[in-house]
Amino acid sequence: MKVDVLLGLQWGDEGKGKVVDVLTPNYDLITRFQGGPNAGHTLEFEGKKFVLRSIPSGIFQGGKVNVIGNGVVIDPALFKAEVDALQTAGHNLTDRLKISKKAHLILPTHRLLDAAYESAKGNSKIGTTGKGIGPTYTDKVSRNGVRVGDVLHNFEEKYNEAITRHKEILKQYNFEYDLSELEKAWFEGIECIKTFELIDSEHYVNDAVKADKKVLAEGAQGTMLDIDFGSYPFVTSSNTICAGACTGLGIAPGSIGEVFGIFKAYCTRVGSGPFPTELFDAAGDNMRKIGFEFGSVTGRPRRCGWIDLVALKYAIMINGVTQLIMMKSDVMDSFDTISACVAYKIDGEEVTEFPYDLNDGVEPVYIEFAGWKTDMTKMQSEDEFPEEFNAYLSFLEEELEVPIKIVSVGPDRAQTIIRYEEI
Ligand code: GDP
Ligand code: IMO
Ligand code: MG
Repeated sequence: MKVDVLLGLQWGDEGKGKVVDVLTPNYDLITRFQGGPNAGHTLEFEGKKFVLRSIPSGIFQGGKVNVIGNGVVIDPALFKAEVDALQTAGHNLTDRLKISKKAHLILPTHRLLDAAYESAKGNSKIGTTGKGIGPTYTDKVSRNGVRVGDVLHNFEEKYNEAITRHKEILKQYNFEYDLSELEKAWFEGIECIKTFELIDSEHYVNDAVKADKKVLAEGAQGTMLDIDFGSYPFVTSSNTICAGACTGLGIAPGSIGEVFGIFKAYCTRVGSGPFPTELFDAAGDNMRKIGFEFGSVTGRPRRCGWIDLVALKYAIMINGVTQLIMMKSDVMDSFDTISACVAYKIDGEEVTEFPYDLNDGVEPVYIEFAGWKTDMTKMQSEDEFPEEFNAYLSFLEEELEVPIKIVSVGPDRAQTIIRYEEI
């Protein structure tokens, strides 16, 4: 079978964790292919709530095997905290979670470097999650990284070499720090990592594909945060797009099956950077309040705005999305009107093609829809959808030219409406 990919089409936090959990019963193997603990994927079911950072969101349903792929960066200390929390809640992962030997390790000094670089940027800071993501991918690309497989041999030497190099850089930045506590937690984390099976995940995933197993690849962040196609430089440091699943798992492009593109009925962003449809009025405040738009990792309030179809179409194109998933429709339940950005006005001219730079005077052009003014959170099937909501869905499907297969009407696993039989 092929590898289906589920990824975010906006600036992250679209609800990837929830939907991966919902889809898990359809799959044999769930994988993560990029990012690291900058991700915070929330799942809610049976009155419980979990936030996953590095562990794939397929660990709660049906005892499925989950794999952390080579494209992921792992912070051992945060990984251990995640494993401990799950174990305390009664979820034993030891036999079901496997880690690629080629995944890179976030060293304690990577986190310090992240902070030093951000503070040196002053007003133009990226607003990173502070988890050391950029510095770790930088070391990977400059061929200085330390990988999970290194914990099996020559580890101390590689670790010390990297730490010494990082300390030199931190000195240049006059950055003050205390490494001892960080290192203690980090090495405890390494012991935790060693209790899992460390694998050549490219073989494992390709063998699964050959053996007709169904594989789901879970993206982190979103297309607008992609290192190549996002709102550079206000992006993360990995390829969050579908192609990232090929490099982050070691699978051929022809192995990709469905591409699930997930988006919110509106739009959010955390951290700095352009956001053409951002709202600074009561509508934006309502989205934040009703949608509880606060970062699941950092707790930072998320910036909120109307849905941006120019950016969405671009994301659909880059990823080759075959099925759309719309999240958080319920957040708009009380809105009188709902707007959708269908073009940008740049230098007085209307454009519908996503531009090179979002920073320069991009003004959104909106179409307005009547709100549905109905509580959708308890709906079980699309037959219950209000007329105005159906009109909004049809408009989106026509504009985006991809069917919306799933509509999510609340954070719980059960609040999910699958519109067509076959997924
Ligand atoms: P992810 O990073 O893409 O997995 O998304 P996050 O977990 O960071 O953010 C999504 C937030 O919205 C979480 O708090 C979810 O519990 C919540 N959520 C997911 N789907 C829905 C939905 O349909 N309606 C509402 N109201 N909340 C949702
Ligand atoms: P999930 O997987 C939302 C943002 C940060 C910052 C930029 C770079 O939960 O959707 P980084 O720490 O990666 O160097 O930060 O990217 N960012 C996210 N925003 N959701 C995420 O992950 C994010 N991961 C990173 O806020 O603007
Ligand atoms: Mg998130």
